[in-house]
Order: sequence, then structure tokens, then C-alpha cells
Amino acid sequence: MSTDAPPTTTPAPATTFLTPSSWTEPLVMEAVFPKRQPLEVDLGCGKGRFLMARARHHPDRNFLGVDRLFVRLQRLDRRILRANLPNLRLLRIENDYATQHLLSPCSVAVFYVFFPDPWPKRRHHRKRLFTPEFLAHARQALMPGGIIHVATDHADYAEQIFKLFARDPAFEPAAIFTPSDEERTDFECHYVGQGHPIHRGAYRLAAPPCGLKPEAQPAGPN
Ligand SMILES: C[S@@+](CC[C@H](N)C(=O)[O-])C[C@H]1O[C@@H](n2cnc3c(N)ncnc32)[C@H](O)[C@@H]1O
Repeated sequence: MSTDAPPTTTPAPATTFLTPSSWTEPLVMEAVFPKRQPLEVDLGCGKGRFLMARARHHPDRNFLGVDRLFVRLQRLDRRILRANLPNLRLLRIENDYATQHLLSPCSVAVFYVFFPDPWPKRRHHRKRLFTPEFLAHARQALMPGGIIHVATDHADYAEQIFKLFARDPAFEPAAIFTPSDEERTDFECHYVGQGHPIHRGAYRLAAPPCGLKPEAQPAGPN
């Protein structure tokens, strides 16, 4: 019997971490995911409770979790491998860097930014993710009609975020994403348990900067 027979199944990956061949050029998503389908990106995905649930229930979409904390992603990587989710991959890097440099223009259907670090002290506000520069990078990466969903328990940060979007004519308000119990992020579970109110926003890219017509509306989050 020949030992050269081709394998009948694709071997499972050893890790779900992406290692870009270039850290300055956008990732080629066709090489990352087995299927070409809408891309949803969770910036600051943390332990990944939300991402795991979304990827499991939406095999028709690709999900990318971005976070800078290796230990969190390492645990999540093992859970994704055990759950066998080919539509979910991880990238360890700064959120804004990934958005600006590693996501192709007009490639992202949905961004989720849930419970971004609020940096409550005034002198630390400059470390917050939501700045006009980040919004410009997100605008560039979003596909026409793409959406950013935001949630935070921090009232002051929520106000800053909402004002930022209100001042940006490229975005218009969109339907708020309310997670099912299974989809609540780890931080949301914690804050809801403590009785904190959660502030949510959703914004659709009305005027795509990349020159495409907004005919290809991404699927809604629900
Ligand atoms: C407050 S936690 C929220 C995690 C998750 N979204 C949730 O709701 O459970 C913020 C997460 O963002 C990550 N993070 C903070 N700043 C970041 C940055 N500049 N780039 C990438 N990840 C960042 C942290 O490592 C952490 O996992």
C-alpha cells in the first residue's frame, strides 16, 4: 500500500495566533481564514467569552480577537482550539496599531469595543483608545455601512465616546447591540453582577472614506 496518499482532512492548526508576515502591511484575510466571509473584529477581546459565543453561533462570519495581554490570549487560544472554531483567530498587538496598519481598508464589517480600559485619572486620559485618530483609523478599516459597537460601565468615558462620534459626520447612530446572556463579555458579567449601568453605543459608517459605494451592507450583529 502506498504511503504517499494525500491526507483527506486538513490538519487542525496548532495555534489560533496570527503571526503576520509583515507588521506594516495589512493581513491577507483569505490566507488567515478557511472561508471568505464578513470580518468582525473585537478590539481588547480579553478572555474572549463574547468572541467564543459569537464565533460558535455565526460560522458564516470570521472573527478576529485583538488584545495586547499575552496570558489572556494564550488561555483563549487553547479554548478556541478545543472548541474547533476555524472562523476565530487571535492577534496580540495594540488595538490602534492593528486598526491602522494590519486591517485592510474597507475590510471590517463590525468592530466591537467592549469595556475598553477607561483610564479614569485625568492625566491618563490620553491613553484611552477612543481619540479622533483612532476613529480615523477605524473609518479607514470599516467597509461601507460597517458598524462599531461600544459598551462601557464608565459614564465619563461613555460621554467622551458618544461626543466623539457625534462630531464625526462619517458616522451615524445604528441599532444598539444587546448581548444575550451567553454573549456577555467577562467584564460585563462582572459589572452587571455589581449592579453597574452599562452604556452602549452603535455607529454606522455612513460616508466610506475608501471610495466604495455603500451597497454591500454587512450583516447586522444579531
Ligand atoms: C477592561 S478589559 C475588557 C475585556 C473584554 N472586552 C471584556 O469586556 O471582558 C480591556 C482589555 O483590553 C486590553 N487592552 C487594553 N489596552 C489595549 C491596547 N492598547 N491594545 C490592545 N489591547 C488592549 C486589555 O489587555 C484587556 O484585555
